[in-house]
Amino acid sequence: MADGGTAATASDAPGRGDRTEASVTAIDQARFRAILGRFATGVVAITGVDPATDRPTGLAANAFTSVSLDPPLVAFCVAHTSSTWPKLRAAPTVCVNILSDRQEHVCRQLAARGADKFDGLTWDGAPGGSPVIDGAIAWIECAVEQEHVAGDHVIVVARVLELDRHHDGTPLIFYRGGYGGFAG
Ligand SMILES: Cc1cc2nc3c(=O)[nH]c(=O)nc-3n(C[C@H](O)[C@H](O)[C@H](O)COP(=O)(O)O)c2cc1C
Repeated sequence: MADGGTAATASDAPGRGDRTEASVTAIDQARFRAILGRFATGVVAITGVDPATDRPTGLAANAFTSVSLDPPLVAFCVAHTSSTWPKLRAAPTVCVNILSDRQEHVCRQLAARGADKFDGLTWDGAPGGSPVIDGAIAWIECAVEQEHVAGDHVIVVARVLELDRHHDGTPLIFYRGGYGGFAG
């Protein structure tokens, strides 16, 4: 090399196979959250009717994405610790409600563990019976098709059965641990 340094060889360069367990776990959770929190997302309420009680339930999620047009698939990630997911996955269909920036309280209520998730909320049934929450800007009714374990979460792939826009409005945005609206 012109500077007299030693050229790194392919075997010196850190590659995927060289990552030790220690270097991977060195990414602590606070740092992971802080960096990933710079990726702004919307917030959805994933709802269903618990077949054991016949009552609506749900959870708030920002790990949601569209996946495939043909067939129509979406995906979301749920923590293994969720007490609501076992109830939702037992329902024949679930509904992904895209929350508006006027529904931060809905998000907080659905994120509260052990609470009556639908206390004070009004909703209608989508064609398959899953809850469409009043005030959501759109809804997507789906049937769970695949679940892939990924670390401390499960990636749920669901087939879209029906979907529509709902109320007018702009989405609730989650960014760096806080809530906001879309100012575009
Ligand atoms: C803005 C926001 C986003 C969230 N995103 C997710 C998510 O993508 N996946 C998840 O499993 N939990 C997520 N949660 C946590 C759940 O809403 C809920 O708190 C958790 O499932 C515990 O409640 P449960 O025991 O009723 O399921 C989020 C919470 C908030 C407030």
